[in-house]
Amino acid sequence: MSVDTAIDVRGLSKRYGGRAVVDRVDLQVPLGRICGFLGPNGSGKTTTIRMLCGLLTPDAGSGSCLGLDILREARAIKRQVGYMTQRFGLYEDLSIRQNLDFIARLFELPNRRAEVDAALERLRLGERRDQLAGTLSGGWKQRLALAACLIHRPRLLLLDEPTAGVDPKARREFWDEIRQLADEGITVLVSTHYMDEAVRCDRLCYIAYGRVLAEGSAAEIVAEAGASDLEDAFVRLVGRAQDNFA
Ligand SMILES: Nc1ncnc2c1ncn2[C@@H]1O[C@H](COP(=O)(O)OP(=O)(O)OP(=O)(O)O)[C@@H](O)[C@H]1O
Ligand SMILES: [Mg+2]
Repeated sequence: MSVDTAIDVRGLSKRYGGRAVVDRVDLQVPLGRICGFLGPNGSGKTTTIRMLCGLLTPDAGSGSCLGLDILREARAIKRQVGYMTQRFGLYEDLSIRQNLDFIARLFELPNRRAEVDAALERLRLGERRDQLAGTLSGGWKQRLALAACLIHRPRLLLLDEPTAGVDPKARREFWDEIRQLADEGITVLVSTHYMDEAVRCDRLCYIAYGRVLAEGSAAEIVAEAGASDLEDAFVRLVGRAQDNFA
């Protein structure tokens, strides 16, 4: 593996009930880049993300995250990866600060209080630090979830539809933050269904039926599909795939 590569996996596969939901996926993401992960509902994005961070064991395939083997070094990977799940995974009956403090305890951070304060400030959560998470609006919840997955200072972020259901202004702010994190050297793999977010990524990977149908910059994918724009490219790609695999 090149030292410049944060994610480098090949042939990643997972079957459920005899059906391949992730089918020989190859994925390479350079360090410090934002890679958008796109594909229709049920195409295998979440399953792939869970295999990358060691939460799910692949049936086949191999590779590394941050130079660590995804099969043998899953524990070490988890300590260096921030995973934001598709659904809000924090405690609704704890405040913002209590949620962050709880995560900091799980990671056994030595300087817990300072890390919690830094996360509160970074995501502009301070003014509502004592509000129960369950009473926050969607945009605030997502910022809290991002703060929670940054608290142990990961080198790789796996964000699974982090802005689903969030208003446009909050989405833009969230993406400004993601870009800032990438500028600081953190690698980001982010799944999304929004085209305005896809075009903000350095690279894209598009999957359908568990298979990678296109990879590259937005411009490369549009040109290769002979499409007018990214959305058109994805519609064409999935249409062709339907003829081949469905
Ligand atoms: N634990 C499981 N048992 C059986 N089938 C599963 C399981 N997890 C996922 N699947 C199936 O695998 C396929 C891929 O699911 P996955 O959640 O990875 O898709 P996705 O691309 O993240 O979709 P979405 O955009 O809706 O989040 C789906 O058909 C799903 O029903
Ligand atoms: Mg998903």
